[in-house]
Amino acid sequence: MAKPIPVVAIRLVFLALLILIATVMVRRCGRPERTPVPSAPGPTPTTSAEPGTIDPVTGLLVAPGWELVAANCNACHSTRHFLRMRGTRSTWDSAITWMQKNHGLWPLQTDVRETIVGYLAEHYGPSEASRRAPIPPELLPPNPYPTPARREVRALTGR
Ligand code: HEC
Repeated sequence: MAKPIPVVAIRLVFLALLILIATVMVRRCGRPERTPVPSAPGPTPTTSAEPGTIDPVTGLLVAPGWELVAANCNACHSTRHFLRMRGTRSTWDSAITWMQKNHGLWPLQTDVRETIVGYLAEHYGPSEASRRAPIPPELLPPNPYPTPARREVRALTGR
């Protein structure tokens, strides 16, 4: 039968563990506090990304203001959650308001919000490519409903 482990050995292991945990905690306390993401007002000094390239971490186009979008819009969901969206300044602005009212986005300083909206509207603004071309009327099935728009088309085209 195996000999029971002596109490002294158990105590020693326990003591060693305590010292280890204490060391780790002390070292952590010594570290400077990380700046909380929401209040990061300036550029995040983390990357040396080339302007005009896509940041591999966030998927954002590297252009003035992108760090603020990365810091504020990549926390709860990835920026990729909304980068397929296209919009004018007011579209993006109302998306942010909606985000604040319903999804817990923190208040943004006026200049921070301005930079984010400007960045998004400039680089993710409405574009030709974001919508397919309209289908030519002759390829559409006849519209059986006599809507005002339908009457207008008939008057104009005879179809
Ligand atoms: C505090 C958390 C939080 C932060 C920070 C945040 N969002 Fe959101 N966002 C959400 C949640 C939650 C949703 C809803 C997810 C869903 O149902 O699609 C969402 C959805 C969205 C949507 C709609 C996407 C879709 O196609 O439905 C857009 C656009 C958006 N966020 C933009 C932003 C922008 C721009 C920022 C930065 C200014 C931002 N979000 C920061 C929580 C957040």
